[in-house]
Amino acid sequence: MPRKRRVAILISGRGSNMLSLIEAARDPDYPAEIVGVLSNRPEATGLARARDAGVAVHCIDHKAYPDRETFERDFDAALARHEPDILCLAGFMRMLTPWLIERWQARMINIHPSLLPLFKGLHTHRRALEAGMRIHGCSVHYVVPELDSGPIIAQAAVPVLPGDTEDTLSARVLRQEHVLYPLALRLVASGRVRLQDGRVELDADWDEKAALVSPSAACSKG
Ligand code: GAR
Repeated sequence: MPRKRRVAILISGRGSNMLSLIEAARDPDYPAEIVGVLSNRPEATGLARARDAGVAVHCIDHKAYPDRETFERDFDAALARHEPDILCLAGFMRMLTPWLIERWQARMINIHPSLLPLFKGLHTHRRALEAGMRIHGCSVHYVVPELDSGPIIAQAAVPVLPGDTEDTLSARVLRQEHVLYPLALRLVASGRVRLQDGRVELDADWDEKAALVSPSAACSKG
């Protein structure tokens, strides 16, 4: 088996996506190992969850720094100590400067709770509800300097149901995030993803017949 890719996960909060990656990487056949978890927030509850899972954790509190650059230089040094091949942003809620993004260019991926390029930025579930979407979802993409705009690796879609609130919709999307992120990292770490002219080419399985119809296709009866 080829060498497992070394992965560091960046978090700012509860770390449920982080745990889904740690869980997936327990499979001996998974092509990546999680070598560290870094947070910019000491209060991130995901730090304790990572520690409990036996992963090395490190926190660099951005509030202790006068500006983004000095914070990022220390953050980058802490990252480099883990010698990661790939960085996974998993609810990392700090804007990164082009300096750090370019240093990790084509090696940094992120999960975002919308079907990009729709609803970049914050409050994606609220905005999907306001827009009257019937389908919503999540995306894993490469990180580029422009926010939530990098080449898309994988996406998962869910129906928006009558009576949905931000809470019910975000929970439905989050369940798919926990499936999608391990799958996307598997593709990247196994080398089945190629970046070609700013787009992702994939050596993956496709299902031509797969469709999510919302409201359900069953409505067309009667
Ligand atoms: C996830 O829904 C993730 O997609 C989102 O934050 C949440 C983190 O949850 N990320 C973004 O909004 C990034 N723009 P988690 O800490 O439980 O993984």
